[in-house]
Amino acid sequence: MFSLPLRDDVRLRPLEVWHAEEFAAHLDRAREHIRPWVGAAFVTDDVDGARATLRRYAERQAADGARLYGIWLDGTLVGGVMFTDFSAASGSCEVGCWLEPGAEGSGVITLACHALLDWAFTTRGLHRAEWICRADNERSAAVAKRLGMTLEGVWRESWPYGGIRHDKQTWAILATEWRTQRQ
Ligand SMILES: CC(C)(COP(=O)(O)OP(=O)(O)OC[C@H]1O[C@@H](n2cnc3c(N)ncnc32)[C@H](O)[C@@H]1OP(=O)(O)O)[C@@H](O)C(=O)NCCC(=O)NCCS
Repeated sequence: MFSLPLRDDVRLRPLEVWHAEEFAAHLDRAREHIRPWVGAAFVTDDVDGARATLRRYAERQAADGARLYGIWLDGTLVGGVMFTDFSAASGSCEVGCWLEPGAEGSGVITLACHALLDWAFTTRGLHRAEWICRADNERSAAVAKRLGMTLEGVWRESWPYGGIRHDKQTWAILATEWRTQRQ
């Protein structure tokens, strides 16, 4: 019902349990593309799995925690952004994202993350937002960089995938930095 226009052809909306079939169809297009780079629990195989993800986020949102938003490009769900963690009590959050391959390269993720960070810092008064990615995920790190985040550290061999333990990067931006770059 509610949506935020990010561009003429792009809408950001809460991604909710009733979207389960649409989300599952989108995952069919995205699954192998995102699998190496996102948490294993997010990469489900069918409508029940997709619904379980949406329900998990809905339950956490009800407690003012994690939140999930879909990105619709010309009316098709092509990906999304989320607060993988959100804590008003500690003043910090973590932002994540994914896209199906056909929607990469047009800036929609940067736009959508911008909207989330602005809400977190301006509306909710949070102090710090983090971004965590595999160290070899260049497209993800590029988004963090475009958002003005700073690379704070590398957790060595902390991301097991495909029999290899990959390094993991933590990027972050503080509210003061967000306000300065918005001026
Ligand atoms: C990470 C991921 C979401 C990034 O997608 P993306 O399309 O590169 O990111 P954006 O939507 O911000 O688009 C940036 C691209 O659009 C281009 N672009 C065009 N117009 C733009 C605009 N107005 N603003 C910003 N970028 C724009 C940029 O130049 C860039 O393209 P390039 O990398 O080819 O130079 C995507 O690669 C993905 O889904 N990967 C697999 C899952 C994943 O890694 N998730 C993150 C886990 S930490």
